[in-house]
Amino acid sequence: MLTLVFISTYILATISQYLYNQNQVELLANANVVANTVSDYIKDNRELIPVAVSRLSLGDSVRVIITDKDAVVLHDSASEHANIEGKTLVKPEVIKALKGSDSVGRYDESEIGTIIQGAVSVISDSDVVGVVYLSEAAKSTDDFMADIRWILIVISLIVCILIGVLSSVMADVIVSPIEKLTKIINKMKSSSMEERVPVNGNDEIAQLGDAFNQLTDRLNEMEEKRRQFVSNASHELKTPLSSIKLLSDSVLSMETLDEEYVREFMEDINGEIDRLTKIINRLLSLTKLDINYEELELKVTDINEMAQRIVKSLMPVALNKSIKLHLFTENEVLAMVDREKFWQVLYNITDNAVKYTPEGGTVSLYVFGEGDYVRIEVIDNGIGIPEGQIDKIFDRFYRVDKARSRESGGTGLGLSIVKDVVDSHNGEIVVDSKENDGTKFVIVIPKKL
Ligand SMILES: Nc1ncnc2c1ncn2[C@@H]1O[C@H](COP(=O)(O)OP(=O)(O)OP(=O)(O)O)[C@@H](O)[C@H]1O
Ligand SMILES: [Mg+2]
Repeated sequence: MLTLVFISTYILATISQYLYNQNQVELLANANVVANTVSDYIKDNRELIPVAVSRLSLGDSVRVIITDKDAVVLHDSASEHANIEGKTLVKPEVIKALKGSDSVGRYDESEIGTIIQGAVSVISDSDVVGVVYLSEAAKSTDDFMADIRWILIVISLIVCILIGVLSSVMADVIVSPIEKLTKIINKMKSSSMEERVPVNGNDEIAQLGDAFNQLTDRLNEMEEKRRQFVSNASHELKTPLSSIKLLSDSVLSMETLDEEYVREFMEDINGEIDRLTKIINRLLSLTKLDINYEELELKVTDINEMAQRIVKSLMPVALNKSIKLHLFTENEVLAMVDREKFWQVLYNITDNAVKYTPEGGTVSLYVFGEGDYVRIEVIDNGIGIPEGQIDKIFDRFYRVDKARSRESGGTGLGLSIVKDVVDSHNGEIVVDSKENDGTKFVIVIPKKL
């Protein structure tokens, strides 16, 4: 709008300057014609001047005043209105003309409009003998300028209104979805996470809304997982506690303490406490993994050597169940891993294989390098996992056979720890299993040496 005002003002000023200059040039030309005409009469036949001037027919709007060389008015074409003949005409233009130079000026009279006034000297025999002074109202130029001003004002107003309407429509188009988004976010802040932002089209606002909806979904998902986790964890912690309570109550209610009974009960209580400790340790290790996801202590590690130590530590359990536990590996399989955490991966997988394989079975461990990766396979011919449950075994606290697993002291947290550690090492873990046939776990991690 400002630009419009500036441009309009500039156009008006330029046109008016041009037109009024034109008026001034014309007036001076006319004054020269009058001066030429009257130059002969000023000396001798002054009474002929009015006739000579009127013959020139300059028009009614032009006032012609002729003075002698002392600026005394000899003739005034407007003598009927204000006769100034015989008086001295003191005007800057006249004074300049007497000194020999033509001059013209423009005056803005509030009532009449623009007046152009100019004077030229009348020369006779190379002497200044008088002055011709012309004054004319530039009415046609004034009218023309007024017209143009009106046109510009009307155009500017129309453009301003158009710009105003257009901007408010545009602002509305841009702002209203943002307002909607804010409203919904505020609503979600205070209560419902079920609310979703309506997404229309594919513009930036729609993309923002879409991203926000996805974020909300993810938050909901995380919240649901957290709720599930807390409920599962409380349940898992409550079970051994209830057993302990039951066992200690039984001991307390005995009238006479039979040492053998008490010992047996205390052993059970001890077992439950071990179980509680195991669950709590695993939970701690899981939360630690959550928090320090990026803070792995990566060191160059021989996975072969690590596997050997794990086989060694699980060998007594395997021998106890007459399970053949074998390790197949290359001399040295190096990879950058967090030793403590990766130990838990190999240990848990091998421990599961031994645990979920009946007496006389076989558990084989393969560790070998494959380009930039290390591939670890743990294969057993144990009880296997039912097809529908393979997806769930990595969930926290998930056990295929709760009762059986509890008997063997399982917490259902082993594989979630394994999955978290493998993920944090940018690795991958896949399971292939058939019920009553056996299970194969494959872990692939980048060496990143
Ligand atoms: N090699 C396997 N063969 C058959 N089932 C398995 C095997 N490995 C895991 N599973 C099943 O997956 C479930 C989850 O395993 P996970 O290691 O997470 O828990 P867990 O072994 O029961 O408890 P924890 O590891 O704390 O002792 C197990 O309860 C078991 O049902
Ligand atoms: Mg396990």
